[in-house]
Amino acid sequence: KRIVIFASGRGSNAEAIHEACENGTVNGEVVGVICDHAGAQVLERARRWNVPSTVIELKSFENKAAFNDALLEAAVSYKPDLICLAGYMRICGENLIHAFPNRIINIHPALLPSFRGLHAQRQAIEAGVKVAGCTVHFVGTGLDDGPIITQTAVPVYDDDTEDTLSARILEQEHPSYVRAVAAYCRDELTIEGHHVSGMHGHH
Ligand code: GRF
Repeated sequence: KRIVIFASGRGSNAEAIHEACENGTVNGEVVGVICDHAGAQVLERARRWNVPSTVIELKSFENKAAFNDALLEAAVSYKPDLICLAGYMRICGENLIHAFPNRIINIHPALLPSFRGLHAQRQAIEAGVKVAGCTVHFVGTGLDDGPIITQTAVPVYDDDTEDTLSARILEQEHPSYVRAVAAYCRDELTIEGHHVSGMHGHH
């Protein structure tokens, strides 16, 4: 399966997915990285992997619609079977979601539907929850919305800070995301009992 990764920054989830493709855990290949920030660390990672990348920055466009069109055009150019949002800090345009139905997945550092949006780990600390975690889900048109694929829980300790909790969640994000991508690429993912096959992708 051809995987395109959208990322905005550090790219540790992207690294985990790429590593899993390389070592055969995932029956896939990262064929492109699309990033909305020039200079993001994920671009260094793509160079190291010899994977092509496309930088698309909002400030280079007249408006959001033109930006979203450029993102769609870049994604289509890589002919992906699956798009993985990995530390991607924007909401996908509806044009992208409609172009790749049930073929865009995302990882969110909270147990959805709790704590959608930014700083989810901080939201968990402020809410005083005793259990936090991460969610891998299909991307719908809403913010951090869409059918849940897998969730992993981690304990929250009384002396946790946003950083200590984020680190504990991140440790689980990588294997969680890899498990979900591996299942997708084996055509084993279903939504409400309907088989989500990646087979209708480009070959
Ligand atoms: C991760 O915690 C991810 O869940 C969130 O932002 C962080 C990005 O990490 N969206 P990375 O860029 O994958 O290292």
